[in-house]
Amino acid sequence: MPRKLAAGNWKMNGLRANLVELAKLEEKHGDADVDILICPPTTLISACEDTPFDIGGQDCYAADSGAHTGDVSAEMLADAGASYVITGHSERRTDHGETSADVAAKSRAAYDAGLIAVICIGETLEEREGGTTLAVIDAQLKGSVPDSADAENTVIAYEPVWAIGTGKVPTLTQIGEVHAHIRKRLTDRFSDGTEMRILYGGSVKGSNASDIFSVADVDGALVGGASLKADDFSPIITALENS
Ligand code: PGA
Repeated sequence: MPRKLAAGNWKMNGLRANLVELAKLEEKHGDADVDILICPPTTLISACEDTPFDIGGQDCYAADSGAHTGDVSAEMLADAGASYVITGHSERRTDHGETSADVAAKSRAAYDAGLIAVICIGETLEEREGGTTLAVIDAQLKGSVPDSADAENTVIAYEPVWAIGTGKVPTLTQIGEVHAHIRKRLTDRFSDGTEMRILYGGSVKGSNASDIFSVADVDGALVGGASLKADDFSPIITALENS
């Protein structure tokens, strides 16, 4: 069984004052028996050095260094204290035009820096309604996940774009169908594909977490809005521990 992972993506939220939420989370979950990852904005990564949780970046540049004003390399994230980085989040794909080839390059950069890549994939509402969800997932898996991926350096996050930040969640059957499909593709392609963690993301909260974690091949969650406050993230972690 892959080790379970509760991952929080703070997106472009959080000032130093908000680190108090990590201290509160530590009181309740400092010795949790699931992995806990917090991806704060880059500006806060080094300020998180005392937390017991894993820390991750939300994006990285594919090159190691150079004339790329405003960008941050995977090595810089690692140097600041990160052990993970999210790649290919739908907000990056949409807001910054990132392609799956870009995501694969960023993920390879993550591996080179010793980071675990949390590679995000997921269909839009139009794609779901058009019946192409699994084809979209296949193309994104093929294009975004490097051949050098393995269960140690890679986590896959299935995040239907229409479920992110909307309060809309797929049915458990829909989640199960996509996760089983991803598992099959991973096991076909990678010798340790059964061990690769597959997270669900998109409007996960305390009230729906237990149901989502009961679905086969859901090894945890990538949580946006509900990861910002310890009181909201805590029940999700507890649900994962009890799943
Ligand atoms: P949400 O975001 O939990 O706010 O829907 C999830 C994500 O974008 O990772």
